[in-house]
Amino acid sequence: MYPGEVGKDAVDWKATQGQHITAVQRNILVLGSGGREHALAWKLAQGEGAKVFIAPGNAGTAEVGTNVNLKVGDFEGIKKFCLDNEIGLLVVGPEQPLVDGVVDFFKGDAQLHKVRIIGPDQKGAQLEGSKAFAKVFMEKNGIPTARCLTVNKETMADGVAFLKSLKAPYVLKADGLAAGKGVLILDSLEEACQELGNMLGGKFGNASATVVIEEFLKGIECSVFVLTDGEHYLLLPEAKDYKRIGDGDKGLNTGGMGAVSPVPFCTPDFLKKVEDRIVKPTLQGLKAENVDYKGFIFLGLMNVGGDPYVIEYNVRMGDPETEAVMTRIEGDFADMLYACADGCLDKVHYAKSPKTAVTVMMVSGGYPEAYQKGKVMTGMNLLKDCVAFHAGTAFNADGEVVTAGGRVIAVTAQGDSIEEARGIAYENVKKIQFEGENHRTDIGMDLMK
Ligand code: AMP
Ligand code: GLY
Repeated sequence: MYPGEVGKDAVDWKATQGQHITAVQRNILVLGSGGREHALAWKLAQGEGAKVFIAPGNAGTAEVGTNVNLKVGDFEGIKKFCLDNEIGLLVVGPEQPLVDGVVDFFKGDAQLHKVRIIGPDQKGAQLEGSKAFAKVFMEKNGIPTARCLTVNKETMADGVAFLKSLKAPYVLKADGLAAGKGVLILDSLEEACQELGNMLGGKFGNASATVVIEEFLKGIECSVFVLTDGEHYLLLPEAKDYKRIGDGDKGLNTGGMGAVSPVPFCTPDFLKKVEDRIVKPTLQGLKAENVDYKGFIFLGLMNVGGDPYVIEYNVRMGDPETEAVMTRIEGDFADMLYACADGCLDKVHYAKSPKTAVTVMMVSGGYPEAYQKGKVMTGMNLLKDCVAFHAGTAFNADGEVVTAGGRVIAVTAQGDSIEEARGIAYENVKKIQFEGENHRTDIGMDLMK
């Protein structure tokens, strides 16, 4: 049988109540090249019968699957690879191909009808691709979020008036994707007005031709991950991300310097509020707009005095949260994603590990500003009781593993407490060496009692 034959498997899913479909060989292609993709591929590769390919991948993904030299935006190349290699499931790691319509491309091509795909269509991807779209969506569906006004060059005066009606600090967000840099938080009204002008004048290119001005929410942030087939959903383990480069949340924003899962303040009561006030209305809203959404929804939340508010939607998993979260999913993740694509998420068996996972990101010296690449990495063979997910690594001409990005490698360890997991993670961080290496020393400390 053709691997991942649509229809046949869907029937099997229902008949077997989510048991393994052992008859089907599972060739899975993961798009992306970071720590998130290594963690996804690592977990998927443990699935029964799973054979994982990663495009383009990194030195770490080569240990759990086969790297494929394709760019995530090369839809024609991805199509050809899927057909030549009988790919049954395509898992899209980063947001850009989703915002660029990779799901619509696959669904609209008769030759690709046998390839299941994890990710929303282009309209659904607007939840992340346009902050203005996300705000309108939340307002329409009664989802708690910060008060806001969306402006462009023509309506800048309204923006200034709105800023004057708010209290400091002021939040300005570029509407479009700006490589995680499009949010400014400013202490004075004067600076805020100035930056509003800069953004509308092209500070982030076309991404800030429209700007969302938001009320500042005071609280603690967390990331809640939902897997949905459009009808049913599962709450994956939640996590806390550490965005600033320095200990004590000091210094420049980064892609993420570490993560902890679970998050102690995400109590059952808080998560119930998240489901009732955010997850359910979000899914209803997507259905009402005929969005085809089979994939991850990443809720960036602010816990304001015990109540959840949406800071942002992302249409993918978080990085480095995934590196912590994947280690806490019990069960066959490939099964979960096949069921998701088949609309049978209600049939899967899934549990969260009671263990705590701590992820420490090791980065290149200078990151998030200019940094060097190509530094030889050593010590990975000495690691114990942990898993090191490669974020920015590659092989050099001699076959050695070298640094190839700002965020280099994410060391994840588990324990019965944050303290224990931290201890093991940092013991292992000490063993990995490369010139200029930097990491935060306080991941999880703020969450310890
Ligand atoms: P975003 O790219 O939307 O996640 O924003 C980047 C960061 O800015 C978030 O992780 C928050 O720390 C912060 N932020 C965004 N919006 C707000 C808000 N309305 N109130 C307080 N902090 C915010
Ligand atoms: N860790 C935040 C993100 O992936 O956007």
